[in-house]
Amino acid sequence: MAPLTLLLIFLSSFTASSSAAGEYPTDLFFSGFRRAAAAGNITLSGIAEIDGRGVLRLTNETGRLMGHAFYPSPVRFKSSPGGGVSSFSTSFVFAVVPEYPKLGGHGLAFVASAARDLRALPSQYLGLLNAGDVGNFSNHLFAVELDTVQDFEFGDINDNHIGIDINSLVSNASAAAAYYAAGENSTKLDLNLKSGKALQAWIDYDSGEKVISVTIAPSSVKPTKPILSYKVDLSPIFREFMYVGFSASTGLLASSHYVMGWSFRIDGAARALEISSLPPLPGARKKHPPSTALAIGISVLCVVLAGSAVFLVVLIVRRIKNADGVEEWELEIGPHRFSYQELKKATNGFKEKELLGQGGFGKVYRGTLPNSKIQVAVKRISHESKQGLREFVSEISSIGRLRHRNLVQLVGWCRKRGDLLLVYEYMANGSLDKYLFDEPQVTLDWEQRIHVVKGVASGLLYLHEGYEQSVIHRDVKASNVLLDDELNGRLGDFGLARLYDHGSNPGTTRVVGTLGYLAPETPRTGKASMSSDVFAFGAFLLEVACGRRPIEHEAGPEELVLVDLVWERYKEGRVLDLVDPKLKGEFNEGEVMAVLKLGLLCSNCNPMERPTMRHVVRCLDGELDVPEVATAPSGFDCTRAGEGSRFEDFRLSFPSSCFDKRSSSSFVANRDNSFASLSTSPISILTGRGDSG
Ligand SMILES: *[C@@H]1O[C@H](CO)[C@@H](O)[C@H](O)[C@H]1NC(C)=O
Ligand SMILES: *[C@@H]1O[C@H](CO)[C@@H](O)[C@H](O)[C@H]1NC(C)=O
Ligand SMILES: *[C@@H]1O[C@H](CO)[C@@H](O)[C@H](O)[C@H]1NC(C)=O
Ligand SMILES: *[C@@H]1O[C@H](CO)[C@@H](O)[C@H](O)[C@H]1NC(C)=O
Ligand SMILES: *[C@@H]1O[C@H](CO)[C@@H](O)[C@H](O)[C@H]1NC(C)=O
Repeated sequence: MAPLTLLLIFLSSFTASSSAAGEYPTDLFFSGFRRAAAAGNITLSGIAEIDGRGVLRLTNETGRLMGHAFYPSPVRFKSSPGGGVSSFSTSFVFAVVPEYPKLGGHGLAFVASAARDLRALPSQYLGLLNAGDVGNFSNHLFAVELDTVQDFEFGDINDNHIGIDINSLVSNASAAAAYYAAGENSTKLDLNLKSGKALQAWIDYDSGEKVISVTIAPSSVKPTKPILSYKVDLSPIFREFMYVGFSASTGLLASSHYVMGWSFRIDGAARALEISSLPPLPGARKKHPPSTALAIGISVLCVVLAGSAVFLVVLIVRRIKNADGVEEWELEIGPHRFSYQELKKATNGFKEKELLGQGGFGKVYRGTLPNSKIQVAVKRISHESKQGLREFVSEISSIGRLRHRNLVQLVGWCRKRGDLLLVYEYMANGSLDKYLFDEPQVTLDWEQRIHVVKGVASGLLYLHEGYEQSVIHRDVKASNVLLDDELNGRLGDFGLARLYDHGSNPGTTRVVGTLGYLAPETPRTGKASMSSDVFAFGAFLLEVACGRRPIEHEAGPEELVLVDLVWERYKEGRVLDLVDPKLKGEFNEGEVMAVLKLGLLCSNCNPMERPTMRHVVRCLDGELDVPEVATAPSGFDCTRAGEGSRFEDFRLSFPSSCFDKRSSSSFVANRDNSFASLSTSPISILTGRGDSG
């Protein structure tokens, strides 16, 4: 049987029949892409390429890139522009080989799109869409994603799932990767998309039933039961002509995404692909006949021996040169590890000229990554103790997995002796404080400010509630809010404070924070909590609305503390007098009032009285009314804050109902409402105890 079958496979390794429906292709079949590449029957863009053996590699293991491969001419999906979408069927064999085992980045997708040149972003956007057009019905984009990262932003169910995406990356339907075993019992078996092994996928659309079904399996035997079915009429989504192909992307973490074979058919079942006749995955071992095995074995052994000798020498030389070698545990860590040389080159050798700023944790330099030319900000933190470095770095990996449009994304890191270098996205418009304080050259109008405030609130909410474990920021303030090129507010430095703790001696907890933003209970207990973040956010709200720092040293004594000043004016009913004069009176009164009142509520000395970030976000979105403020922020005896109970207790006991629209007046003082305790406002405690500033 062999010769004839082989001949047939060979002959059919590329055919695109263009007979049935005139000049439009209806039946594509690629058993490997070598011939297709030679004949120009596949169009590549991004970093996609076809290797010598005919394997299509959409991305390699370099982060934040994407690759596309499309059949060059469009496929006719409808018999008339207004008609229904014909049935179609496609099947492909793919493999995802991640840079680090168990951590994929980000995924690949089969795409049908009105345009071949997708104006898209990498990372969580999978090279399909960009931040501006997600969800827009003029995209005319249909995709089936094989996603290996859980993105909370798009509501992903896990980091190993398939999803049906219509004009958006929020999947219409998704399922954990699995398949039904053949046979009547059809047990569901889990499948790991990023196992590095060849897997096959089938996507079928039935125009009669209007159902899309997706099936995956580790072999070329198609399970009878699909893992995902979704009833949808594709007619409004598809145009008459659509391009078909693949897209993949990498992010902070990266995988090589391969496609070894693909078949596609309109009005019929896609021709079967035979995994065994496809080109092998690069790096996969090929089977050799026994006669040559010995020879190959010996030569491989020689190469390995020579290789390991060279490797050892290199390793020893590197160890001697700089104690900066990669240790085994570091390989298990997620975010991209840069070499010191790379970062040194990126920042021109950490020249003063590239210095962007100097924060509590170290100096920040502007840099341009030598290969990709991507602009980044490099933060250099010196870390005295070697002890705790491992925790330090594992913390980084968890920070690196936090993804939200209002957080400054960590791109990677590097360790050099006692120094730790953190590489972040570059924020074109710098930090917010330079637009607010000290007679700035440019300021932001109210619309821009409220946009920033809402962004920061949702970023902080994500840190508190959106991730597996809540992350306390610990240092929310205007100078930690950065503005990207579209003036979106993005929180920087999150998680760093906790990182820093790993370096200090156990037992002496360093209180991290900034005077004026530090909740009064924090120095007392040494513990930051979600509610101490809310306190700092309150100070931030007031500074954005009033355009002045929470504590002004130059101002007269009664103006020293912004929150007290706002409270005084609020009681007198003329709080709008305090609105930043740089706004020249142009602002939305309702919004400013809401921000000021929220600022007061969040600044309450008593952690139990502060709202949660979820409430704050709902108020800012206008979903809930902001109640009148009845308690003086420092009406509670600050010196007692935090006594006895842990802050988690405070948060849980916060009466969430008091923020409900129906009972908006119930935010009532339940303590001594006099202002005698004004003198015990935060600073008196902080200056006495806080190790901050
Ligand atoms: C595929 O490539 C062959 C060989 O160059 C060419 O003749 C054929 O027209 C191509 N098919 C399509 C549908 O473009
Ligand atoms: C990935 O591809 C890009 C572009 O072709 C290249 O610059 C980069 O060096 C490649 N990375 C790896 C790890 O091969
Ligand atoms: C959708 O995209 C079209 C074309 O790019 C644009 O004109 C329209 O404003 C977008 N709609 C929304 C809601 O963003
Ligand atoms: C799913 O698809 C429909 C179009 O049929 C669309 O209106 C809807 O917004 C999509 N998204 C989700 C999350 O259901
Ligand atoms: C189905 O399950 C039953 C009970 O577990 C078993 O006896 C039977 O052999 C199974 N049939 C197949 C086809 O696997």
